[in-house]
Amino acid sequence: MSQITVKGGKPLVGRVDVRGAKNLVTKAMVAALLGDTASELRQVPHISDVEVVSSLLQLHGVKITHDDDGVMTLDPTNVKSARMVDIDAHAGSSRIPILFCGPLLHQLGEAFIPDLGGCHIGDRPIDYHLEVLRKFGAVIEKQPNGIRLSAPDGLKGAKISLPYPSVGATEQVLLTSVRAEGLTELTGAAVEPEIMDLIAILQKMGAIISVDTDRVIRIEGVKALTGYSHSALFDRNEAASWAAAALATGGDILVGGARQQEMMAFLNVYRKVGGAFEIKDDGIRFYHPGGELSPVVIETDVHPGFMTDWQQPLVVALTQATGLSIVHETVYENRFGFTDALVQMGAQIQIYRECLGGNPCRFGQRNFNHSAVISGPTPLKGADIRVPDLRGGFSHMVAALAAEGVSNVTNVQLISRGYEHFLAKLEALGADFTYTE
Ligand code: EPZ
Repeated sequence: MSQITVKGGKPLVGRVDVRGAKNLVTKAMVAALLGDTASELRQVPHISDVEVVSSLLQLHGVKITHDDDGVMTLDPTNVKSARMVDIDAHAGSSRIPILFCGPLLHQLGEAFIPDLGGCHIGDRPIDYHLEVLRKFGAVIEKQPNGIRLSAPDGLKGAKISLPYPSVGATEQVLLTSVRAEGLTELTGAAVEPEIMDLIAILQKMGAIISVDTDRVIRIEGVKALTGYSHSALFDRNEAASWAAAALATGGDILVGGARQQEMMAFLNVYRKVGGAFEIKDDGIRFYHPGGELSPVVIETDVHPGFMTDWQQPLVVALTQATGLSIVHETVYENRFGFTDALVQMGAQIQIYRECLGGNPCRFGQRNFNHSAVISGPTPLKGADIRVPDLRGGFSHMVAALAAEGVSNVTNVQLISRGYEHFLAKLEALGADFTYTE
């Protein structure tokens, strides 16, 4: 199991460049399946989530190249069914396979999807996805190790309303409706920047999609789509993670590729905590301007609110703020597991079942510890830490870098799932660590 031994207490200073968003590029790769000709996707990071989707696509006959500059070509002209046993090998490694359903049903009339993986931050059901696929006319059979789908009468446009603006379920509707027969109307859609970038890609392919103000997306199915040429939206979750690292370590990090528009909610909170930022043409400079950090009340929400993926790295900086901060996590029911290790290092964090905030939340009055109170400032001491999930793992690294003394962080391969060239970036920022496979 890979391990990083970190000597903390050094500010992170320097430049890192973020490339395409993990939560966009994997979906854009699946979208290429829908085209009759090859696609080119630029700014694709070399991360394990991309590798998983690449090998699943290749199993289905898609030819893929991915160079060091992040340029990926995908040629779906010989798409074919894959052997179940080969697909099964990918079970539990990502959540993206569920998005193969629509494209494979359009191309082959059938699909087998292995059981999913992804971070353990809640139950992560796929009920919305299955409901959506049935509405389009898919027949779904549960198998011991996944689901088998067919569409005997083809896929037809449907009127769909999501009970919660789920990113994945919205992508499921988009990837299935663009070539379904007739009109699809989706209400209660997610409208994250990654969703809008996927819609831009589908429009380039020939899809007809309109996004209205009240989370309503309308799609007119077309018979055929072509390949696309697209440069992926930058990874705002990685950008926010490095920004939090700059604050927690008293550092100064220029995040190349980051853009203000997609990070407005994060920048407001960053400033309220006491962080400083400078918007440049080629990125955003995040730094600790000196003085005390201030406590804040954060309620995570769907876009344009404060993203759930941003709270975990920022909580580490909040342990250094003077006073009580509150984080009410309203998107996932169990996303504070990472705080155990911070408490072990000296942080004062209390987790509650109650909704500590004003937003209505699906987890109130149920047995979910989804609110946190952080009391600071508390000096962090190095400790032995095991990474629980992607964003929590990054937070543990930030805590180890901010703490006095040495920390041994294990299971760090989880971090490279979503952060490209993670170790090289730490080195570029002057972190003092050694890495053992
Ligand atoms: C995507 O997950 C991202 N992952 C997540 O990022 C991100 O946190 C999340 O969107 C919210 O922005 C990828 O894009 C690969 P959801 P997704 O469907 O699509 C419930 C990271 O760290 N739900 O919007 O799985 C679900 O339980 C990851 O990069 C159902 O109940 O998120 C959750 O409470 C973590 N049934 C809520 O909706 C369903 O069928 C939001 O989930 C689907 C979702």
